[in-house]
Amino acid sequence: MRLRKKKNAPLRFERCAEYTVETEGLPEGFYEYFDQEKPLEMEIGSGKGRFIVTLAEQNPEKQFISIERVIDCLVMAMEKAQRKELKNIKFFCLDAGNLTEFFPAECADVIYLNFSDPWPKARYAKRRLTHRRMVAAYLPLLKKEGKICFKTDNRPLFDFSVEEFQELGFRLEELTYDLHNTDTPNIMTEYEERFSSMGTPINRFVAYPTEKTYEILK
Ligand SMILES: C[S@@+](CC[C@H](N)C(=O)[O-])C[C@H]1O[C@@H](n2cnc3c(N)ncnc32)[C@H](O)[C@@H]1O
Repeated sequence: MRLRKKKNAPLRFERCAEYTVETEGLPEGFYEYFDQEKPLEMEIGSGKGRFIVTLAEQNPEKQFISIERVIDCLVMAMEKAQRKELKNIKFFCLDAGNLTEFFPAECADVIYLNFSDPWPKARYAKRRLTHRRMVAAYLPLLKKEGKICFKTDNRPLFDFSVEEFQELGFRLEELTYDLHNTDTPNIMTEYEERFSSMGTPINRFVAYPTEKTYEILK
C-alpha cells in the first residue's frame, strides 16, 4: 500500500489524542487505561485500521489495541475510530520488536497479524512478524491460554509461517488456504479486499502456544 507522506500527520494525531495513551509510565500504568477484568485484543501492523476498528465497533464489551509503526497509517485508523465515537480502542505508534517495553506481560487474549509484510528476501526473514525472533518479542504479551490469528494472501509467507509456528510448538487450528470459502466469520482488512478482489485466495491459521513454545522461546 503506497502512502504519500502526510505533512500534517502529527497535527491529525493530536486531534485524535483521546485515542492514544502517553507511553511514558507504561507498562506500570497500563491498567489505568485498560480494565484488567475485560478481554483485550491487539492487532500488530494494523495499517489503515479497518479490521481492528470494525472489530471494536462489533464488540463493545471488549477492549482493543492497534499497533502500527507508520504514523500516517495509524492516524487514518484513529480517525476511523473517532468518526464512530468508539470508546474501547487505543492506538500506538510502535514497532512490534519493542512491545514488552510498553505492555505488561500476559495482557492480551488475542493477537491478530493481518497481511503482515512478507519480506520475501531470505536476508530480511527476521523482519517477518511470524519469524521466531519477532514472535519471541511479542509472545510475552499474550495470555498463556491466548491465541494468535494470522491471515495473508501471500502463500510463501504463509508456508514459512506454518513451518515456523509448528517448529515453535504452537498448536495450529482452523488452518485454511481459502478463508473466503469457509464459514469462519471474517472482517476484511484493506489489503484483503484488494487481493481477494483480484482472485487471490486468503490463507489463515489460529495458533495456540504450548509448553514447548515457551521452552523454545525462553
Ligand atoms: C501489508 S500492510 C497490512 C496492513 C493491514 N493489516 C491490512 O491488512 O490492510 C502491513 C502493515 O504492518 C506494518 N508493520 C510492518 N512491520 C511492523 C512492525 N515491526 N511493527 C509495527 N508495524 C509493522 C506496516 O507499517 C504496514 O502498515
